[in-house]
Amino acid sequence: MAYILENAKEAERLELQKKIQAYSIEEELKEVDLNNKNILDAGCGGGDVSHYLIANSINSKISGCDFSDIRVAHAKKKNPSGNFFKSSLEKIEAKDNSFDLIVCRYVFEYLPDPTKVLKEFKRVCKPGGEIIVIDIDGVFKNFHTSNLEFNKDLSYLVTQLKVDLEAGRKISSFFHLAGISQFDCSMSSFHFKGEELELEKENSEMRLNAIEPELLKAFGEKKSKEFSRNYLLLLEHKASVMFFNKFIVRGRV
Ligand SMILES: C[S@@+](CC[C@H](N)C(=O)[O-])C[C@H]1O[C@@H](n2cnc3c(N)ncnc32)[C@H](O)[C@@H]1O
Repeated sequence: MAYILENAKEAERLELQKKIQAYSIEEELKEVDLNNKNILDAGCGGGDVSHYLIANSINSKISGCDFSDIRVAHAKKKNPSGNFFKSSLEKIEAKDNSFDLIVCRYVFEYLPDPTKVLKEFKRVCKPGGEIIVIDIDGVFKNFHTSNLEFNKDLSYLVTQLKVDLEAGRKISSFFHLAGISQFDCSMSSFHFKGEELELEKENSEMRLNAIEPELLKAFGEKKSKEFSRNYLLLLEHKASVMFFNKFIVRGRV
């Protein structure tokens, strides 16, 4: 899904997403000891996770990598004290045993071979170090409305997207397959209501804009516009339900 990842608007969307409790980095990482560590933000995107790591750690060195030049440039600009480099996660440009902690957030949904990436994390992580993978599960899938025609279209769209919308529930299995036997999985559920729903509506609008090429391919021009309009209208309908789950897996190497 190169288009979504490189879309300049996607950076704006991730900026908005930070305001929504369901995506709070602070909540995700509040129990993690970040001090005196060499930390890698794997698939750093625009550098939001790195920003949190820098602000909330003492005596740690924060590095970030991403295969997108644009994202690495954003991350550097946002975090002048961080060390950012271009690298795919399948072959990380770092020596064996380089990091005490690797954090990888909202990236697994895009990976063709997550087990391979976890094996690479294992290689660059020091013995005794920690790997934390965070991903959501159910975006687009966990939206149900009283408009049956719309529900059918949404189900069809889900089959056309190349992102794994159930990445979250699979993380533990990838740890196991990568030979990381010590890990723990936690899950939170989010049901969007009130102010959170308002913000998620804005987020959804940007998400729909970002996947416009996929919408066009699935529905054609006229119907794709109608679909997006209905999506946003139905989000606020009393009979609609929108929720998703978030998984955090913490493993020891
Ligand atoms: C949705 S963003 C998440 C960014 C950041 N982790 C955050 O939580 O804000 C996903 C990022 O993963 C990067 N990415 C996806 N697949 C990758 C791969 N195989 N190697 C390196 N980076 C990858 C994309 O370029 C994008 O910046």
